[in-house]
Amino acid sequence: MITIEKENVVIIGSGLAALTIAERLSGDKNVIVLTKSTIHRSNSVKAQGGIAASVGEGDHWESHYQDTMTAGCFFNEEQAVEVLVKKGPHYIKKLMDRGLPFDKNAKGELLLGKEGAHMHRRILHAGGDATGNVLMDFLIKHLQISVIEGENVLDLIMDGTKCVGVITSNKNGNLNYYTADHVILATGGCGGLYQVTSNDSTTAGDGIALAYRAGAELNDLEFMQFHPTMLYTNNRCYGLVSEAVRGEGAVLKTKDGKPIMERVHPLKDLAPRDIVAREIQTYLNNGETIYLDISMIEDFQQKFPTITSICEKANIFIENGLLPVAPGAHFLMGGVKTNLYGETNVEGLYAIGEVACNGVHGANRLASNSLLEGIVFSNLLADRLLSFPGQSNTIKQRVEQKSNPSRNHLELPSKEEIQEVMTRYVGIERSREGLLFAKQWMERFNFQQFNQKHISDYTNEQLEKINQLTSCWLIITSALMRTESRGGHYRSDYPKTNDLEWGARHIIRHKNENR
Ligand code: SIN
Repeated sequence: MITIEKENVVIIGSGLAALTIAERLSGDKNVIVLTKSTIHRSNSVKAQGGIAASVGEGDHWESHYQDTMTAGCFFNEEQAVEVLVKKGPHYIKKLMDRGLPFDKNAKGELLLGKEGAHMHRRILHAGGDATGNVLMDFLIKHLQISVIEGENVLDLIMDGTKCVGVITSNKNGNLNYYTADHVILATGGCGGLYQVTSNDSTTAGDGIALAYRAGAELNDLEFMQFHPTMLYTNNRCYGLVSEAVRGEGAVLKTKDGKPIMERVHPLKDLAPRDIVAREIQTYLNNGETIYLDISMIEDFQQKFPTITSICEKANIFIENGLLPVAPGAHFLMGGVKTNLYGETNVEGLYAIGEVACNGVHGANRLASNSLLEGIVFSNLLADRLLSFPGQSNTIKQRVEQKSNPSRNHLELPSKEEIQEVMTRYVGIERSREGLLFAKQWMERFNFQQFNQKHISDYTNEQLEKINQLTSCWLIITSALMRTESRGGHYRSDYPKTNDLEWGARHIIRHKNENR
């Protein structure tokens, strides 16, 4: 047993929520951040559009509240939404006071963008469309704690019903055991489980599987947001084309120049994402290509440098004014069930950011509310943890070599196979038949047999795959249960919203549930 420095908080993940809380706790607690890739890779880094906050003239938190509730199909937790929109401007101001360079005009006034379903211009952005990148660079520059990169958390350590640490695989393939008083899941979403996604490829729903095995409750996993516009050409996704582009007037069109959203919704191209995404997908299913016409946007390159560089990589000429697009997996509204302070039902285990679900997004997240969520709720959890009496426990780290992983002949699918099944059967449009197929397909691989006692019998790749299959299975079976359509969950066999039966019903999953 090797004892390292005094530590008592382990944070899993290195996106915005993770680094915000790490920074807040670092003066008073012993904190380590574990990330399976590098600190420079996360969905937060990739965020383009910006951060929504009612800071503009004529705007008010009540209007932001209303827009968030409307986008979320009024399935949101009202208290969580109120906290988000009221506290948001306060935390944004704190970041600005510390020097975060949001874009401003020559008079020094904030430049505010517009995105779908917002009734006001309230999207703060930085570096044009490089908001996440600028924000994360800023946080990384100010961070004064150790971040351990290449450290993949495979399971949580439990002492009875209390979470007391994590088991990771390190760069050498060994197992590392870390003990901690507080374990914070900030692992992001699960877009990487789909073929076409705006997410970093490392986001594969790990936190959901870890929490589930630890006995945490999971909430509303069926609600997955598909963003309408990924840059997509030659069967390849090159990245996100921000909704801010449609906010500046861009229009979705067929090859013949027909605007596709004209008669579909009063908000046309800025209609709710599920509606726009389904419309585009219908055309794509019929073999057509859909383009985003950007020809009317002046100074596109200056306004959207990130998208310009993505287009260059894809050999798409901005000057032609037409970007080929397809919908892609973007944001999981459901997740590990928490209260406003990131606390789960498992003692010692917390969740913040996209992996968490405190109900703030309802059935469909309002654009640019996710960075705001990361900032607000990680600060609330920080307040809570800082109010605990200081502990002088020690994070103990034990390294164990794998005993004999080759002994295990467990056959598991490739990530590509998983992505294909998720995209085809658990994507923008679902049905009982497709979901049942996907469920049975996942169950063939016996991932439920996994037992931590035998962890060293598995290869790290097998353990990662077991976590992916677990998360997929939970999403699939939650989607099977909700026999209606609402927000990010569309069932072709139940195309209507059924308020009578489902309007007040959340789907909560737990490892001891009766199946
Ligand atoms: C975008 O820039 O379109 C994405 C913003 C978001 O999903 O919040």
